[in-house]
Formats: sequence, C-alpha cells, structure tokens
Amino acid sequence: MRKKIVAGNWKMNTDLKEGMELAKAVEKLEQEKQSDALVIIAPPYTHLSRVNDLIDGVKLGAQNCASEESGAYTGEIAPDMLVSVGVEYVIIGHSERRSFYHEDDALLNKKTKIALSKGLKPIFCCGEVLEEREGGKLYDVIREQLSVGLAGLSKEDMSKIVIAYEPVWAIGTGVVATPDQAQEMHKFIRDLLVELFDKQVAEDMTILYGGSCKPSNASEIFANPDVDGGLIGGAALKAEDFLAIVNAY
Ligand code: 13P
Repeated sequence: MRKKIVAGNWKMNTDLKEGMELAKAVEKLEQEKQSDALVIIAPPYTHLSRVNDLIDGVKLGAQNCASEESGAYTGEIAPDMLVSVGVEYVIIGHSERRSFYHEDDALLNKKTKIALSKGLKPIFCCGEVLEEREGGKLYDVIREQLSVGLAGLSKEDMSKIVIAYEPVWAIGTGVVATPDQAQEMHKFIRDLLVELFDKQVAEDMTILYGGSCKPSNASEIFANPDVDGGLIGGAALKAEDFLAIVNAY
C-alpha cells in the first residue's frame, strides 16, 4: 500500500509569529484527524527550526534546497542545513522555481540527488502550462520533466521520492483540474514510472495532485485511483481548511 500524503506549501507567506501560530493550529487539528494521510507542512526557511519544535504528528518540509553541498553560494540553503533543523521532506522543481528562477530539469536532477544523499525525501514537482496542454504537448512535457529530473536514480532512491503533479494553469488560479484530468495524468505518470524504472516503483509511488485544491473539491480529486493525496498552496494557510482537505481523504 502506498502512502497517502497531504502537504501544505506555504510559499512566501507568514512572518515567524504567524507561521508558528499556523503550525501549532495544524498540529492540534492533525491530532484529531479522521484520515490516515500523512500531513506535511513546508513553511519558509526562516521558520523551520522554530516550527520543528511545535510539531510532532505533522512532518516538516522545506520548499527548496541548494544543488551544492556547502561553500561560497550566497543566499543558498544546503540540504545538510535543512536536516540539521529537523526537515524530512523537500519540495524540488515547483513550477514557481522553474518559471521565476529558471530552474531546469538538469539542475533539478542535481538537487534531487544531493537531497537524497543527505537523507531528505524529495517531493518532485512536474506540470504543464496551459499552452502546452492546449497544444497537445502535455504528455511530452511531463515525460521530459520526469525522465530528466529523475535520471540516474536507483529504485531505492525512488522509494524515498514523492511526485507532485501540479498543472501550472491550476496553481493559484481557482481553476482546478477536473477529476478526470487529474486521473489521466496521474495514470500517465505511473505508467511512465514502469517504463523508466519498474512496476514495483510505479505501484509504490505516492503521486500528489496540486493546483487550487480546496475543502470543496478535494474529495472528488482524491477519489481517483492514481491520486494519492495533494500538495496544497493557498488553502494550507488556514489550518481548518488544510485539515478539512486532509479529512476529505
Ligand atoms: P494553490 O493550492 O494555491 O493553487 O497552489 C498549489 C501549489 O502550488 C502547491 O505547491
């Protein structure tokens, strides 16, 4: 049985005080949850150490990490630093990193490898933009992002990875993918993993859906056989909404 996960990506939101309050509220509600999904929160870097002291059932994620181990890389945060403050998961290849910071598949592959080598579990994101979907290129785009991004990983590495499918046109737009659109792409990703790795890797892979997920639409998306949870942006900033999504499982 593969793991079900609901992860909250806080993006560049909350100051430290607000973040600590949100983490406390999420932890409290997590203890009363009616779901067996694992709950992860990914606050901004500045909050990680303090938030780690406030959570127990909730697991800690970071939103990014450096592609290098240490050294003269001003402004970067190394995987080891994340591990040292209690981070277990790291989001890699979010579409906002790909588009605003020009992170390409080769760089994301490097980040994934270094994160794994330091014991972090990558949440590797992929997703097409609207023109790619409308132009019929959506499957080629996802194939490229995953085959380059996950190149050279072993089956053992893959057992520590979570994949998040986040169609860029659905992120922060209020336009959620239909349950059929989500299922079709998740099935495509699982079939691709059979091709790139093997059946076991594909069967065991947790594949999350992300993009305008809300308490009102989560259960119909999660009902799909190849959707194993969600990566939540805006709705993760309110503990009640976030846990309502968790409980939609
Ligand atoms: P929204 O849920 O705000 O659309 O964001 C999704 C996302 O990008 C999570 O990583």
